[in-house]
Amino acid sequence: MDNSKIKRYTVTAALPYTNGPVHIGHLAGVYIPADIYARYLRSNKRDVKFVCGSDENGVPITLKAKREGITPQEVVDKYHKIIGDSFKEFGVSFDIYHRTSSSTHHQTAADFFETLYNKGVFTEEVTEQYYDETAKQFLADRYITGTCPNCGNENAYGDQCENCGSTLNATDLINPKSTLSGNKPILKETKNWFLPLDKYEERLRAYIESHKEWRPNVYGQCQSWLNAGLQPRAMTRDLDWGIRVPVRGAEGKVLYVWFDAPIGYISATKELCNYAKLDVWNPKAEEYYINNYESDKCGWEEYWKSDETKLVHFIGKDNIVFHCIIFPAMLMAHGDYTLADNVPANEFLNLEGQKISTSKNWAVWLNEYLREFEGKQDVLRYVLTATAPETKDNDFTWKDFQARNNNELVAILGNFVNRVTVLTHKYFNGIVPTLMQVTPQDQAVIDELATFPGKISASIENYRFREALSEVMNVARLGNKYLAETEPWKLIKTDEDRVRTILNISLQICANLQLLIEPFMPFTSDKLMKMLNNGRQEWSEAGSSTLIKRGHTINEAVLLFEKIEDAAIDFQIEKLNQSKTANAVPAQALLAKENIQFDDFSKMDIRVATIIAAEKVEKTKKLLKLTVNTGIDERTVVSGIAEYYKPEDIVGKQVSMIVNLAPREIKGILSQGMILMAENSAGKLTFVAPAEQFTEGSVIR
Ligand code: MF3
Ligand code: ZN
Repeated sequence: MDNSKIKRYTVTAALPYTNGPVHIGHLAGVYIPADIYARYLRSNKRDVKFVCGSDENGVPITLKAKREGITPQEVVDKYHKIIGDSFKEFGVSFDIYHRTSSSTHHQTAADFFETLYNKGVFTEEVTEQYYDETAKQFLADRYITGTCPNCGNENAYGDQCENCGSTLNATDLINPKSTLSGNKPILKETKNWFLPLDKYEERLRAYIESHKEWRPNVYGQCQSWLNAGLQPRAMTRDLDWGIRVPVRGAEGKVLYVWFDAPIGYISATKELCNYAKLDVWNPKAEEYYINNYESDKCGWEEYWKSDETKLVHFIGKDNIVFHCIIFPAMLMAHGDYTLADNVPANEFLNLEGQKISTSKNWAVWLNEYLREFEGKQDVLRYVLTATAPETKDNDFTWKDFQARNNNELVAILGNFVNRVTVLTHKYFNGIVPTLMQVTPQDQAVIDELATFPGKISASIENYRFREALSEVMNVARLGNKYLAETEPWKLIKTDEDRVRTILNISLQICANLQLLIEPFMPFTSDKLMKMLNNGRQEWSEAGSSTLIKRGHTINEAVLLFEKIEDAAIDFQIEKLNQSKTANAVPAQALLAKENIQFDDFSKMDIRVATIIAAEKVEKTKKLLKLTVNTGIDERTVVSGIAEYYKPEDIVGKQVSMIVNLAPREIKGILSQGMILMAENSAGKLTFVAPAEQFTEGSVIR
């Protein structure tokens, strides 16, 4: 888009499903890059609305409610708060964090549907859809899984395969299975309203092809869908949670969540502007948060219906088709709206080499991180930006997190700022010294400093945030190199004026860093602002060597970052290992043994027994000698459980025991039977005991 035409920006970040807390994958994929972009635009004094909110409709919510045994409303209320708080704490500077359960959104989405309906956009069709006879409901979207016809992924959802990114209809799935009952569903007729995407194919193609500058992953995916040919897609669902379809004959049906959710960007903007107009703090606003309250006197339509507005959607790669094909088709069908200028979708972030998974608890949850690394939001923001999966999937590891903190933030950025501020206090009582004679060496540094803002701006405006951040760090590197070469701590004894010049220039670098790191590390920028005591500058001043004036007094030096010790990292790795153990399928369970007949089983005489004495078997690590009451007799068994149970802890415990196993001699002791143990994949053993105190000798069968 021609830059000179742009009057304002609408920046959206994908509305997270409100069915669990957010993790580092969300931050890295969507919210940090979006926030960097929005902060950068604000620093440039551009008019920007940065909107987001909770995606509270759809099957992900009702499934979670079923699993937790609470209502969908309780699910969204709980996670809306947790997610909203995490974003706030990480400094994600939405102008509004809205929610799609709000009345503004229900109204906006229903109106949108009605407009398309009245224009005759939809086709009304009775088709056969999958139905679960046990659960007595239609199975759409995540209520049904099966094998993806495109890539063979066995866990594709009814509307999308997350492996290959393709959109699906439930009836496309091979071997469909209800996620409610696990049953094979039947087909049953029902009426739905379809958006004929095929009719928009040509216009969509023209739209996509006018954006060759989009990231190759985004552009390429769009091309391949268009080439495969678009199919009509149902925009309504037979479900009871969501936005009611506002037309006659649609009772018991709701809007498809991917129809209403992107409209959530529009309703958020509406809400942002409306509440500002009220000019009072509306109590309802507690349901979400609004920043920049003062500046929000706006007409929402300007942000959505003007060709002077640049609309940018930040999303993860699994959302590409919805933002580049379906939502634009909806907007085209409506007619009044501007289309996105760019959709910078990130690839996925893995964690320690494995796909992040909520159900396997293989994730770093933001709410937990905040508890365990208090005040270190910027460290995570930094690491996630430096390793952002912009062009390919990337891996987050705790060792890398530690190394980047210790070797980059502490050793490069923190160290430079610290040396400059400490020396300024030591030699000049915290007063910015005068620039005396400028040597060619100084001039080279001043000139190089001036080149950075342009490079950083270009990277950010082209959505290359990793590159932008590495240039920001190069500013600190420039500073460190300058200090190392000039060695003011040596010169101070012989040439104080020279030191004045060096520290003046170094302080200019610090002031530039305060400004340049702000979009990436806003908390650290604030800390540095307090230290330099020099207010906040605008991006247009970046690169200047007169940002901080001589004679100005800076505040006490404080450390921007601190070293992260091994213990904190080991703790995180241990936590992940625990998830791994909990998830592991016991090796023995992978393949069941060969079938046996009941007679084979009934040959075993298994009884409830009570341990009445226990001692270690000398010179062994694993063995305990137990005396047990089997109800038939008292006898001795040798059991390999010494690593898991102490003798004194198990006297009186009840166990299950095979009493007719032929006696065996173990370490010179005659063992008469065997105690049953469960063993997990880590080799840990635990007793298999009756669920309540039971008479010895009771038969187990
Ligand atoms: N809730 C979706 C997800 O988490 C994203 C919705 S984005 C919007 O994948 F367009 F619908 F807002
Ligand atoms: Zn697939």
